[in-house]
Amino acid sequence: MEQYIIKGGNPLVGEVTIGGAKNAALGILAASVMADEAVTIDNLPDVRDINVLLEAIGQTGAMVERKARHCAKINGKTITNLVVDNSYIKKMRASYYMLGAMLGKYGHAQVALPGGCNIGSRPIDQHLKGFRALGAIAEVKGGMIVVEAKELTGAHIFFDMVSVGATINIMMAAALAKGRTILENAAKEPHVVDVANLLNAMGASIKGAGTDVIRIDGVEKLHGTEYTVIPDQIEAGTFMMAAAATKGDVTVKNVIPKHLESLTSKLREIGCEVVEFDDAVRVISKKRLTHTNVKTLPYPGFPTDMQPQMTTLLALSEGTSIVTESVFENRFKYIDELNRMGADIKVEGGNVAIVNGVENLTGACVSAPDLRAGAALVIAGLTTEDYTIVDEIKYIERGYEDFAGKIQGLGGNIQVVETEKEIQKFKLRMG
Ligand code: UD1
Repeated sequence: MEQYIIKGGNPLVGEVTIGGAKNAALGILAASVMADEAVTIDNLPDVRDINVLLEAIGQTGAMVERKARHCAKINGKTITNLVVDNSYIKKMRASYYMLGAMLGKYGHAQVALPGGCNIGSRPIDQHLKGFRALGAIAEVKGGMIVVEAKELTGAHIFFDMVSVGATINIMMAAALAKGRTILENAAKEPHVVDVANLLNAMGASIKGAGTDVIRIDGVEKLHGTEYTVIPDQIEAGTFMMAAAATKGDVTVKNVIPKHLESLTSKLREIGCEVVEFDDAVRVISKKRLTHTNVKTLPYPGFPTDMQPQMTTLLALSEGTSIVTESVFENRFKYIDELNRMGADIKVEGGNVAIVNGVENLTGACVSAPDLRAGAALVIAGLTTEDYTIVDEIKYIERGYEDFAGKIQGLGGNIQVVETEKEIQKFKLRMG
């Protein structure tokens, strides 16, 4: 089983280039099957979730051509199979985007009930509610979500909570429905805007993405296009936190600084210097940082996907910080692992972490419970003078391309290892 071994203590210094946004790319790839012409998507991250979705799209009969590591050409003209079900896709939450895409185009789809990171119960009621409002029958049968409609008709839909997935899914189906759909209380995340921009480039008529009211005028069909995915704000944020935690100086390149504002302002609040450029941010941290309170919220609030990395940073900051997780109910499972590394954090009521900052963490053997928490444990390891081993890195590889390589490029000592011999070799090399 692959693990990371880390010998921390070095400040991360230098430049790192951020890849395309995984969560935007998942919606974009699903949407690209909605045309009967070629849709070429560039700036795809080469991560497991994307590769699994591309494989699933291929299994529908669509033509999928990997033109380069970060570029794929998809043509939905040859789709014959509207059932998406394999052992990998079940592990991935975003597989449900195939529902909205294929329901919109063919009036039928069946997708295995999604998995994804185990960060709390992740219902799909808002997706089903939206499909039904458009006139579809939507039900869960034998582990599959089945949606079906003779005709989809535009509707006025008010989401009960802000859901990125439901907003994107219903937006896709409504793009090919008859008449106008209005989505209220829609998610405003940059990836919602990115999927809307792709659909518009394919001939859809979607206005208001990025605000909480999205208006979609259904069109007859969509056409081919070429599109480039936006940079990944969470990958960027993770490197910003790693720079801050290791008292480093890192320029994070190929980002949209506007998408990082909630992180930039928290970092400045606790004493970090953050310089914004047109398409880069530089994070400079020279001293021990101080405490603050953080509450996760839908965009433009502080992202839940950055909560573990921020909590790790606060675990090393002076004073007591309070971190409130308000998006998912079970996202503090990694705290036990951080405490094993010497952090002093108590979780109260399941969604509030009281973080008493300590001066240093110590190396330990820890296990990544999910994607972002896994990245947070790597950051923790990079701050200690000892060796840290992070297990279950398959979770981290779902969403970070060449994570170890990018950290090495900043002077961090980290390596993927599989055997005790490789661990010993790494330790020898570190002296
Ligand atoms: C997406 C991201 C995930 C991120 C999350 C919040 C992808 C592939 N994943 O997940 O990384 O953490 O947004 O920014 O883009 N909910 C319901 N019913 C529904 C749908 C959602 O109750 O039908 C609840 C969820 O349980 C959660 C909250 O709404 O508590 C937000 O979930 P949502 O925005 O839908 O997250 P995802 O789209 O699954």
